[in-house]
Amino acid sequence: MDIERWLQETRQTVEEWIQQDALSRAAEPGAVEEAMRYSLLAGGKRLRPQLVMASSLYLGLPADTFREAALAVEYIHTYSLIHDDLPAMDNDDLRRGQPTAHKMFPEAMAILSGDALLTEAFVKMGHFQAARAEDVLQATTYLAEAAGRQGLIRGQVMDLAAERQPVDLTDLQDIHRHKTGALFRAALVIPAILSRNWDEQESLLQFGEHFGLAFQIVDDILNVVGDPEALGKNVGTDSQLGKATYPRLVGIDQARRLADDHRIRAKIAIGSGPQSDILRSLVDFAVDRQW
Ligand code: IPE
Ligand code: IPE
Ligand code: MG
Ligand code: MG
Repeated sequence: MDIERWLQETRQTVEEWIQQDALSRAAEPGAVEEAMRYSLLAGGKRLRPQLVMASSLYLGLPADTFREAALAVEYIHTYSLIHDDLPAMDNDDLRRGQPTAHKMFPEAMAILSGDALLTEAFVKMGHFQAARAEDVLQATTYLAEAAGRQGLIRGQVMDLAAERQPVDLTDLQDIHRHKTGALFRAALVIPAILSRNWDEQESLLQFGEHFGLAFQIVDDILNVVGDPEALGKNVGTDSQLGKATYPRLVGIDQARRLADDHRIRAKIAIGSGPQSDILRSLVDFAVDRQW
């Protein structure tokens, strides 16, 4: 399996799915869809939809089986980036290599485009045809919990509260598990819910747990040593804001070792069979990436 090629092809597939979405056709100047489309199509690794696809392959299903769920997680992720970048939060002006939504559009429009992306994700889940209604309901609830007050939002609240505060590794891991990990876990587990693969749910959850931590440790590291050009976002911003991060708590070298440790644990969770090839390559990508 040529993973570079798989990553590129699936990135292209997600790009096309977004282009084909009704919201893209409604993207007239001044409409909220214009701002939604701007942030959605600004680039991005598309890792969360790729995890939906890789999880489907792991379960023995075609990669595009859960297209709506793949789009839903990317829409929630994109909304979370728009809001994360707002002046009231991380106050960033560069994202995915372009001006952030509130720099490109009036701030109110940026906020509303985020709101609309979040709600649109649940419209996508509601339109699901390829699974039983009760499973769709369970998957949708799972996604809402991952995005909400016990998941991503909780993590964002903790992240802001931890600025310039003394935090230990347990606190920091808790922040990362919520602000970043919850949506990764949902991307992996939702295909198992929708296909009634109860047996595989736990291994996918464990994989997601370690994948999310490895990913966010590397996000912290790249904010210190990354190339802004390659990353498409500014660096050094975490230390300016006094964010709780792995490099701040343990230094770059130990942070790298911890990311590696989570990479290994993620791989152990899904075993070494051919059906987990892509998932294993994805965690390698998440740890070794430069963007
Ligand atoms: C950035 O996520 C925000 C975090 C949760 C750390 P990504 O690095 O996946 O962002 P894109 O989608 O590639 O822009
Ligand atoms: C982003 O975390 C998490 C969410 C958007 C939910 P960060 O603030 O650490 O991510 P970047 O570095 O801005 O992408
Ligand atoms: Mg943030
Ligand atoms: Mg941020």
